Amino acid sequence: MKEKKKWFQEAVFYELYIRAFADANGSGHGDFRGAIEKLDHIKSLGVDCIWVMPMYPSPLKDDGYDVADYYGIHPDYGSLDDFKAFLNAAHERGLRVITDLVMNHTSSDHPWFQEARQNPDSPYRDYFVWSDTNEKYQDTRIIFLDTEASNWTYDEMAKQYFWHRFYSHQPDLNFDNPAVHEEMFRIIRFWMDMGIDGFRADAIPYLYQREGTNCENLPETHAFLKKVRRLMDEEYPDAVLIAEANQWPEDLLPYFGDGDEFQVCFHFPIMPRLYQALKAGDKTPIVDIWKRTPSIPEGTQWMTFLRNHDELTLEMVTEEVRQWMWDAYAPEPRMRLNLGIRRRQYPLLEGDKRRWFILNAMFLSLPGAPIIYYGDEIGMGDNIWLPDRNGVRTPMQWSAEKNGGFSTAEKTYLPVIDDDTYGYQRVNVAAQEGDPDSILASTRFLIRTRQSQPALRSGEFEWEETGSTAVMAFRRVEGASEILCLFNLADSTKEIEADIRPDMVDLLARKQTVRRGGSTVILEPFAAHWFRAAA
Ligand code: BGC
Repeated sequence: MKEKKKWFQEAVFYELYIRAFADANGSGHGDFRGAIEKLDHIKSLGVDCIWVMPMYPSPLKDDGYDVADYYGIHPDYGSLDDFKAFLNAAHERGLRVITDLVMNHTSSDHPWFQEARQNPDSPYRDYFVWSDTNEKYQDTRIIFLDTEASNWTYDEMAKQYFWHRFYSHQPDLNFDNPAVHEEMFRIIRFWMDMGIDGFRADAIPYLYQREGTNCENLPETHAFLKKVRRLMDEEYPDAVLIAEANQWPEDLLPYFGDGDEFQVCFHFPIMPRLYQALKAGDKTPIVDIWKRTPSIPEGTQWMTFLRNHDELTLEMVTEEVRQWMWDAYAPEPRMRLNLGIRRRQYPLLEGDKRRWFILNAMFLSLPGAPIIYYGDEIGMGDNIWLPDRNGVRTPMQWSAEKNGGFSTAEKTYLPVIDDDTYGYQRVNVAAQEGDPDSILASTRFLIRTRQSQPALRSGEFEWEETGSTAVMAFRRVEGASEILCLFNLADSTKEIEADIRPDMVDLLARKQTVRRGGSTVILEPFAAHWFRAAA
């Protein structure tokens, strides 16, 4: 007997940046009270679970991934009571909530680090990774290439170097110290006991360092993560643990363990390939990466995304493809950042609804639990002139009112998008409500259609031959529910031979039609079809 599917195997997620969403107290920063007022919007999309980006006290030099206190709420966002009210209000609407768990590093403002650098005898000294030289672990890559020259930074007060995989204001915690494990378990219990539904574990490949390795995906890291999972299984069996590991599929597989590590892992490599295939009008990159993707243990799931709060990373493609992607999608130097592209989804697609529709229809029917990034449900734009990744983290655009209805403040934490194409005056939730052709309406339609079909939620997946590199076809099957998904990636009409029986209904046939003569199927440019056999 097959196991019943777990909620997270079938869920659609929504990535929420509290600071950017809705400002209830007029401070210019979004807050939990504001987000509560907007929960009905999130619910209306048909999603199941909200991922709240870091909401902890923090100097916000890495937008909260620099945690200064694991047990609180950033004062700009509200109080712990506000967080609890948000959690309850989400649960009342049948929405689950997960938060970020940043285990790899703290902010240099964290009291542990402050104590550690000032007092070599403090127990906190050994919470971080120190060295008298900057020579150790030379085989380790630098992730933030644009800002960091080394993974070591000298601390004048400590008179030693400390290790950091990200910014030099984010010292890595020392997982060779069991006290750090205990701290993490305490943090996990604190938030789980409050009633959240799990965690997105940030940057987990880098927890340990070992000489002669690239300090990623080490066995010690997996051993610790299995301990985390054991705790979760014993104390919070319905919760989810999601791994953020930007790695190749074969390196991701161990993060599932034998079903005893993470239940869900982000599938990073598929993401750029969806854009690549669409631009090239050729399904090969998608097909190849799924062929390279191993099957995963029962009860687990991939997590997929089109965009998130970071740059569109090109770490998981070859150098040649990276250059091709930069040429295709980031012609302006400002659009590039680290090994990626700092742009949002709709501008990447040049605001072309046909491209948007096929990309999202592929994304929502390929295997995996999808995440929608806030703002992408209305095709929000970006601002490449803002530093770092800020240009994809601007205020949510609710209406044509001041600050896009986000805030009544004179100055918002980042400027609202205000350009001729994507400005809040044109692109906003209010303008798209009630417009059946809007990106908002299409997002709701696609998510709801997907979620109404067990085969699309988490069914078996099988490629179908089409005889054309431009036409991608696959079947999703779950019990009696079966869907044939068919996409024409080219900007020209394609004819293929396919067995589309007369009783099959196209769930996406709102406008596009497929013309049939015998078994010949004529696909319009960028056509997307989900064919279901009549029950
Ligand atoms: C997050 C980034 C963050 C980094 C360091 C990543 O995986 O997604 O936004 O800068 O971790 O915490």
